[in-house]
Amino acid sequence: PIEKRIEDLLARMTLEEKVMQLNQYTLGRNDNANNMADPVNDIPAQVGSLIYFGSNADLRNRVQKKAMEQSRLGIPIIFGYDVIHGFRTIYPISLGQACSWNPALVEKACGVAAQEARMSGIDWTFSPMIDVARDGRWGRVAEGYGEDTYTNAIFTVASVKGYQGTNLASDKNVAACLKHYIGYGASEAGRDYVYSEISNQTLWDTYMPPYEAGVKAGAVTLMSSFNDISGTPGSANHYTLTEVLKKRWKHDGFVVSDWGSIEQLRPQGVAANKKEAALKAFTAGVEMDMMNRSYDNHLGDLVKEGKVSETLLNDAVRRVLRVKFKLGLFDRPYTPTTTEKQRFYRPESLKIAEQLAEESIVLLKNKDKALPLNNVSKIAVIGPMAKSQWNLLGSWAAQGKSDDIISISDALQAEFKGKAEVSYALGADFDGQDRKGFEEAKALAAKSDVIVLCLGEKKNWSGENASRSTIALPQIQEELAIELKKLGKPIILVLSSGRPLELNRLEPISDAILTMWQPGTPGGKPLSGVLSGRVNPSGKLAMTFPFSTGQIPIYYNYRQSARPHQGKYQDIQSTPLYEFAHGLSYTTFEYGDLKVSAIQIKRGEKLTVEIPVKNTGDRDGVETVHWFIQDPVSSISRPIKELKYFEKQLLKKGETKTYKFEVDLQRDLSFVDGDGKRFLEAGDYNIIVKNKKIKIEIVD
Ligand code: IFM
Repeated sequence: PIEKRIEDLLARMTLEEKVMQLNQYTLGRNDNANNMADPVNDIPAQVGSLIYFGSNADLRNRVQKKAMEQSRLGIPIIFGYDVIHGFRTIYPISLGQACSWNPALVEKACGVAAQEARMSGIDWTFSPMIDVARDGRWGRVAEGYGEDTYTNAIFTVASVKGYQGTNLASDKNVAACLKHYIGYGASEAGRDYVYSEISNQTLWDTYMPPYEAGVKAGAVTLMSSFNDISGTPGSANHYTLTEVLKKRWKHDGFVVSDWGSIEQLRPQGVAANKKEAALKAFTAGVEMDMMNRSYDNHLGDLVKEGKVSETLLNDAVRRVLRVKFKLGLFDRPYTPTTTEKQRFYRPESLKIAEQLAEESIVLLKNKDKALPLNNVSKIAVIGPMAKSQWNLLGSWAAQGKSDDIISISDALQAEFKGKAEVSYALGADFDGQDRKGFEEAKALAAKSDVIVLCLGEKKNWSGENASRSTIALPQIQEELAIELKKLGKPIILVLSSGRPLELNRLEPISDAILTMWQPGTPGGKPLSGVLSGRVNPSGKLAMTFPFSTGQIPIYYNYRQSARPHQGKYQDIQSTPLYEFAHGLSYTTFEYGDLKVSAIQIKRGEKLTVEIPVKNTGDRDGVETVHWFIQDPVSSISRPIKELKYFEKQLLKKGETKTYKFEVDLQRDLSFVDGDGKRFLEAGDYNIIVKNKKIKIEIVD
């Protein structure tokens, strides 16, 4: 019936009405020149979409009423917004979420975000961001699921399911948008909005799989990217947008440009003017123009001049209408009015956010069991992050409210109430030269048993257009740590940031190191649970912590090199400080021997590999096992190892559990060429878990 309704509508639409469906403006953002002084009056009734900045449905409904009642055909507007890691209940940034290795929980969190957003008048989120990213200088690493392709694909599916549910028309779900298609994570030197140089093989091997997984999971929209790939911008790439997405993957939803990315084809040097930019983007396969006015000003003329066919225009409009029908907007265009209490901070939503924040914390170092903090009576909480609320929200925090966040210092007060005295000193700001606070911090630390040193990045140091030339913390923060170290007290280094950090000067002076990323609404509470031991940390890194910024790009699955033992840096170690999948627990796990169902196997047969893992410590703990494959000899040089599966399980104290990987030869052992074709070759492969390796052979 949807297709019938689309055709019926399309047959009655004028050229102008069709073109207007393909435009997106904004609504409710005050600092924006494109925004209208009197939105209800100024916004054209026929506009296709609006980015809606409101936190309730009131203005949306008024504008929607205009669309329904004053446009000739009564086509509803679709309202989109960046609901990236929550709407009002903010959960950790995506990079943190990935460190939980708990996609089921991420799906639930996205479900919470979807419900809060939809009930507030949002039909469509510009999320998930699934750009594989290996350069921590790039501010947007915060928004994605880390450096690994498989990890991104798994969390893509989880988030799409969480946002869209099984019925897009339900008032609990929103349309998802896979972004930024494609290769944006490879922006050169971590600078934003620049070019990327990606070979066809790497495109298919590294960047495409999360998108393919997301499309298969049913994501109804995608966003085209700012970057170009070897000269072809993401918003003018016919191969990726039309050949692959629409023809090969049969995606029947639509592609929206990134903000202004159509007009930016001009400064990128592939279009002489806005009209040509519109022509290039539209014929490449971008259906909706975000905030650019290229389509509403030029698409009609391009059709009249015969440069854009009616067939292509109709196809684009059909796609937009299809998503609107799927969302049920034609039948229920208005968002029912609700109170904030009905929409936000429901107890179960807060519980999900807190659990996800707990599971995203990674214990990087724990010398001599410095943690948890047992038998301490005086805790000094020091550092610019200690009292911060705003910075814990993370970038793209939608309608999150920092006032509702408990700081690390306050959370520790509550956690240790009656057990230990918790005192605070600032010490130093995030950056600058002011050392005046050092003395107060040192005096406090001198009379304490332990120093919880809370350092990190401000909220706006990561996210869009927030690159840094170094991923080290500003000197003032490192100096504060060095000064405190002179007191000889144990230092627990707590980090909150939107990217991996360079820690080579801080690591030797810290007894324990934790990264909490940017946890969102739960603030300092999950961390304080970890510090007290109420929570046993289980997070593992989804992105490598380099030893130094100069190692970037550094990631676990680099290709095999010509002289594996040479070609190292002369001045620093060549290995990272903390590698991908690193993360400690308060208990210990012992890995047994790998067992494989067959050593030799034929194509099409199934293979199972198992490993027993024992909790050998003195408390219950959760362990994620990562399964890697390695193809030592192949037609092309393959990565040193590639993640193909992971599993997270709770192991009671003393308990042994078997972790199992069902290997699908074609899916897990094949490699891809520069046009997406997969090859499975006969020969030896290794399956790797931690430092255990087992060889299998594919025979013809
Ligand atoms: O969704 C974002 C995108 O990630 C970056 N540019 C702006 C868009 C809309 O806010």
